[in-house]
Amino acid sequence: MNIDFSSLAAKYGTPLYIYDFNYIKDRYDELKEAFSGQKNIINYAVKANSNLSVISHLAAQGAGADCVSIGEVKRAVMSGVNKYKIIFSGVGKSDEEIREALNLDILLINLESEGEMKRVEAVASELGKIARISIRVNPNIDPKTHPYISTGLHDNKFGVEIDMAKRMYIYAKKSQFLNPVGIHFHIGSQLTELEPISEACQIVADLAKTLKAIDIDIKFFDVGGGLGVVYSDETTMNVQEYADMIKSVTKNLDVTILCEPGRYMVANSGYFLTKVLYEKKNDKKRFVIIDGAMNDLLRPSLYNAYHKIEAIAKAGEASAADVVGPVCESGDFLGKDVLLPPLEHNDLLVVKSAGAYGFSMSSNYNTRGRVAEVALRDGADRIIRKRESFEDMIASEKEFLV
Ligand code: LLP
Repeated sequence: MNIDFSSLAAKYGTPLYIYDFNYIKDRYDELKEAFSGQKNIINYAVKANSNLSVISHLAAQGAGADCVSIGEVKRAVMSGVNKYKIIFSGVGKSDEEIREALNLDILLINLESEGEMKRVEAVASELGKIARISIRVNPNIDPKTHPYISTGLHDNKFGVEIDMAKRMYIYAKKSQFLNPVGIHFHIGSQLTELEPISEACQIVADLAKTLKAIDIDIKFFDVGGGLGVVYSDETTMNVQEYADMIKSVTKNLDVTILCEPGRYMVANSGYFLTKVLYEKKNDKKRFVIIDGAMNDLLRPSLYNAYHKIEAIAKAGEASAADVVGPVCESGDFLGKDVLLPPLEHNDLLVVKSAGAYGFSMSSNYNTRGRVAEVALRDGADRIIRKRESFEDMIASEKEFLV
């Protein structure tokens, strides 16, 4: 897609997140098509990009939502996601969150421990409701991704082992206030190989079969998210092969597939547009100092993640530079040794693949206001979040100033 970054910078200012909504719809359609022939719901993982307009754009295509806090659940509801397509996951849910989720009557509360199951049962009994639940199984599979985003090993805090899951299902089946209808796994994020996920899928399908044999009727088979995307030159999974594998493993189970992609839906829809403040050189390094920083896009600092960075409308002989922001941390960089032409004040740089875990992980560190977000659709642009002002940032503190 040909995006006029200069006009967008002039119109909305920088730093700026820009999302191509046509791209997001294409990804949704592609995944739906890949799963065709089997009952399925695409539960968009809201944490990847929680802007209300992004969620609502996906809801309008028919997507559900995978949420990890009651805040995300409320975002999904507010954005028009059908409540029977909302799942609430996460290792730690407060009683208040459980209460609100039960009152909202969403599709599933996904349990990650026995302790949590007992709390859900207690809150459901208080409310006189029956909680529809799924259990997150930790299949102990190495997903071969970055350790910070690997979740399916017994070293990780997520889910429960198979034996514990069985005990929990048997308990839930007997409880008056719990209705165990789902099974879930998610072994990690940015997965590029089919093998680990296919192994996990098989293990969990075997468990679902065992459960069905003892009259625990699993209706929802949730394969989590994790589909990797291209940031640089990675070879990623073929989506049709991924869906075919899941269809084949669950063939005789008579279940609805739930799939929770986050990154896959939005990462490559997104651009982080930033302006050059100045260049600085010493005897070792060239630094390009920009108006965007780690508080806006944390992935390079936190995971050493690679994002392609390009200069807009700028020619000249390229040389390596570290692209750094104004935040007071040596870890504040968006790119290292990036080949860039000579740059001047107000030149534009675009950081690619920034649609997932970009804005949603941003913060006010160094009292920097969170940036504006813009959606592009069918050639038109519109703002979907205004830039945060200084007043916005101090609003909850001001009254306590003595
Ligand atoms: N479902 C569950 C239960 C999850 O924990 C996650 C992500 C997803 C679905 C969506 O995963 P995806 O399809 O986006 O890979 N901040 C990190 C990624 C953290 C992922 C956390 N869980 C990053 O920037 O790479």
